[in-house]
Amino acid sequence: MSHIRARLVGCGSYLPERVLTNDELAEKIDTSHDWIVRRTGIHQRFIAAEGEKTSDLATAASRQALADAGVEPGEIDLIVLATSTPDLTFPATAVQIQTGLGIGGCAAFDIQAVCTGFIYALSVADQFIRTGQATCALVVGAEIFSRILDWEDRGTCVLFGDGAGAVVLKASAGSDPNIPATELPGIISTHLHADGAYQDLLYVNGGPATTGTAGTVRMEGKEVFRHAVEKLAAVVDEALSANGLGKGDVDWLVPHQANIRIIDAMGKKLGLADDRVIRTVDRHANTSAASIPLALAEASRDERIKPGDLVLMEAIGGGLTWGAALLRW
Ligand code: UT7
Repeated sequence: MSHIRARLVGCGSYLPERVLTNDELAEKIDTSHDWIVRRTGIHQRFIAAEGEKTSDLATAASRQALADAGVEPGEIDLIVLATSTPDLTFPATAVQIQTGLGIGGCAAFDIQAVCTGFIYALSVADQFIRTGQATCALVVGAEIFSRILDWEDRGTCVLFGDGAGAVVLKASAGSDPNIPATELPGIISTHLHADGAYQDLLYVNGGPATTGTAGTVRMEGKEVFRHAVEKLAAVVDEALSANGLGKGDVDWLVPHQANIRIIDAMGKKLGLADDRVIRTVDRHANTSAASIPLALAEASRDERIKPGDLVLMEAIGGGLTWGAALLRW
């Protein structure tokens, strides 16, 4: 029996040029580099230039992922973009990426699951590939959160940054039935959750059908933190036990980069050595749906993650939404 798997064959990333440091923020609002580092692990963030759009960041990351994969844009038959900061209310920013890559015709759409967006997008692309509806998918996470921040709210504006990451997934037929599914390269499983009962903990107070404006981020940080630790721990257990795997099988944790204390708690829960957890939050801050593909691209580029390694990804965000994905590199 042939089991089609979605294999990750390339990664790419893009960060805007402008770096905004904690000290610069401390000149404008009542905060300090020390507070931000102590409570979040963030030292700096990248900020998109005026006129730079989410699709610009996403297209640059996508080009790099395609080059890394050795895939021509014309081979792509599915584009899924995770973003909460689209260029326009519609059309989907994914079609801007498509145009930017000089292709047309294939399915292209956006997914909105805030910071869990990349896990959702990966899951959707995985289902398309497993069912034979796509053979070569571009999965992107891209955000310009700097445009939806209240720069006077020190509880949120210090936390976020802009950026984009992309991966290319290719259909691959699992050949040898004697090799366990968890050993074959590709996405092993994805696990998605949402609970709208918690939507008031993290949301944007605007939108086309309410205020007619884009709005700004509002967050009950402490409450989100509490849910993050609890729900990420549960979904990580769910992903491992669904595949008969244990903590000791995980080679790399590639977590959503919101807060170093949450990242460290998850690394500790998994019993992973510090250098087995990919951390970018110090430099990138929280780039929402872009944080995991940005981290993947970094660890792929410097060859920390090696063929055959088991990679565990997890994220939580507005919704609340949360999820995990297991991947054999
Ligand atoms: O990506 C989606 C998922 N998001 C997350 O996972 C974020 C989860 N939450 C967090 O990361 C943390 O809750 C924060 C980093 C947002 C806040 O850290 P905290 O340790 O929970 O701080 P807090 O909100 O309880 O605030 C503690 C104190 C408060 O002062 P008082 O009331 O004790 O006098 C805040 O007003 O720190 C104050 N504070 C700040 N001080 C300096 C809040 N923001 C700042 C700031 N600079 N930027």
